[in-house]
Amino acid sequence: MIEQNKAPLLEVKDLVKNYHDGPNARNILDHLDLSVNEGDFLTILGPSGCGKTTLIRCIAGFEDYEGEILVEGKAVSQPGIDRMMIFQTFEQLFPWKTVKKNIQYPLKINGITDKEELDRIAEKHLELVGLAGKGDLYPHQLSGGMKQRVAIAKGLALNPKIILMDEPFAALDAMTRNKLQAELIKIKEKENATVIFITHNIQEALVLGNRVILMSKNGEIKVNMENKIPKPVTPASEGYGEMWKLLNEALWEEDSESGAVSE
Ligand SMILES: Nc1ncnc2c1ncn2[C@@H]1O[C@H](COP(=O)(O)OP(=O)(O)OP(=O)(O)O)[C@@H](O)[C@H]1O
Ligand SMILES: [Mg+2]
Repeated sequence: MIEQNKAPLLEVKDLVKNYHDGPNARNILDHLDLSVNEGDFLTILGPSGCGKTTLIRCIAGFEDYEGEILVEGKAVSQPGIDRMMIFQTFEQLFPWKTVKKNIQYPLKINGITDKEELDRIAEKHLELVGLAGKGDLYPHQLSGGMKQRVAIAKGLALNPKIILMDEPFAALDAMTRNKLQAELIKIKEKENATVIFITHNIQEALVLGNRVILMSKNGEIKVNMENKIPKPVTPASEGYGEMWKLLNEALWEEDSESGAVSE
């Protein structure tokens, strides 16, 4: 079969970001190039402060920048429902709204007003994240893991082209984290979503990503590798050890003062 040469969904070209916050302000992102194909699950590693959050905030449209960020060939200049961001914090929900209303709020803002349609979308996405029937609870009645599931449901309900996740599972216990990783892989496959996912954890990067990039402390991409290990990826998978070692060594090199954070 002849492979079709499809343009990447996301193209980042010669991206420079500087916060201009002092006379010695440095380029946080320094002429960075990246392309992400539709259906990719890209995981991003890098030492603390290297610009991972800055990169996905630029893609989300929250920051100004020099260079080009194109989604389906169109320049990103502001936030849009084609790019949803999910954060590390558990407090991404309105505490005074039920789970269902939290999911429906952005849909309403974006013009969906039919009550049945709103209920259908909320229920579908609650089921997708394993929270069927929990729509009438309030955020304070949920665990941290459940809150992250609702945040994911809320992001997915808008049917974005790209889901941007900034260490969404970092504050969860190991068991909940493993479970959510497995669920996210399933959801991604079911919805054919494109995901960009920041993590400090090499194992998480390899379990989730079909591609892993590692940023240097100078805001450049130091490693960009395909992860062809068949899912589910575990430390016992063939090829895991080599990839883990390569990424760990690259992280140590970048982060030699404080040491790499990995498991
Ligand atoms: N609003 C801002 N104004 C000025 N400097 C900022 C701002 N946001 C981030 N920075 C600086 O930009 C650099 C990159 O920050 P960023 O949050 O992107 O790093 P990160 O790789 O996500 O780090 P971490 O792994 O700790 O989350 C840091 O030096 C940070 O101090
Ligand atoms: Mg960050």
